[in-house]
Amino acid sequence: MEFIENINVDSKRVILRLDLNVTIKDGVILDATKVRKCIPTIKYLLNHNANILIMSHLGKVKTEDDKITNSLSQVAPLLSKLLGVDVVFISETRSEELLNATKQNRVTLMENTRFEDVPNKLESNCDLELAKYWSKAGEIFINDAFGTTHRKHASNYGISKYLPSAYGFLINEELSGLEPVIRNIRKPFVVIMGGAKVDDKIALIESLLKECDYLLVGGGIANTFLKSLGYNIGLSLYSEDYVEKVAEIIKKNKDKIWMPIDVVVKEAGNTKTTNIEEMKTDASIYDIGSKTIDIYKSIMAKSNTVFVNGTMGLYEDENYRMGTEKLYKAMRDIDAIIIAGGGDAVASINKLGYENSFDFLSTGGGATLEYIANKKLNCFGED
Ligand code: 3PG
Repeated sequence: MEFIENINVDSKRVILRLDLNVTIKDGVILDATKVRKCIPTIKYLLNHNANILIMSHLGKVKTEDDKITNSLSQVAPLLSKLLGVDVVFISETRSEELLNATKQNRVTLMENTRFEDVPNKLESNCDLELAKYWSKAGEIFINDAFGTTHRKHASNYGISKYLPSAYGFLINEELSGLEPVIRNIRKPFVVIMGGAKVDDKIALIESLLKECDYLLVGGGIANTFLKSLGYNIGLSLYSEDYVEKVAEIIKKNKDKIWMPIDVVVKEAGNTKTTNIEEMKTDASIYDIGSKTIDIYKSIMAKSNTVFVNGTMGLYEDENYRMGTEKLYKAMRDIDAIIIAGGGDAVASINKLGYENSFDFLSTGGGATLEYIANKKLNCFGED
């Protein structure tokens, strides 16, 4: 695929795929990094007098109810503010108005592409009829959704089959930052993985374990790992469907996988630290404990490359941010290449003020993990 600067976009009708998949709580966007990172490509197109129809996904849309919380209308005002131009929002994913949007508006934002996942997963399963339909709204397709480059969806891989296509400035920046590190990873290589759920990441974890020397787990992911080893994790959230699979993975990779030996829990309304063997049935895990932090720090200290994806605990709450914060702090003194990727990791780094601990912050979580594991980006059409 070409780079945007190498194709003619002058006065063209452009479909622009972005990753505006930000975390929104009670209507508030928690971290604007992803949206801010999209601005250079939009401005470049505007400077070339293009009219732009922006597409993006937001969250997972599996039911009609999910549509209520995952409407991109929540992101349109921020986009408009950062751009300094009006953004026309179209609340449908198919309509005449949509197909004609780039004939009249400078910047249009279409509703969440994943609304097409209800009921038949047309977007996520890359339905080519849908992609062909969307492609009629433009003359050129620009993909700048780095965070979604590991997905082969109708709105990225699909549309590129029907229009002359190029990638934008964010994908270019990400590839320039990541490629030299990922193509030649300096060992020992440590992956620190947290976040809420293991579900999405299980296949990637398996591939990553072939690349990395140590996998340190925290967050909700660690709960499933602990459960699969038979520990009592009380009322903590975990992914029941993956317990068996995770047990199998741990068995095969005993020397590489490290998990918490102590945890910070909420128990009867109180916050306390407990050894994992002493977890009470009415407790919930929200962070890793100090003994675990010390072990993770000592493993990081021996490493030459560290990749962080997800947080060690519920960092938004000051009672449960110690694990995340202490690891970020320790990274300042480690002589390794340190990269973080993904919405929650980057949001926590920005919120806690540890940007200087990192050599590169990527907007891609799953995308970067996939790139490390498989050295390719699925949306670029390698079949
Ligand atoms: C991300 O935030 O990692 C990307 O937007 C991809 O989101 P997804 O995992 O829901 O596809």
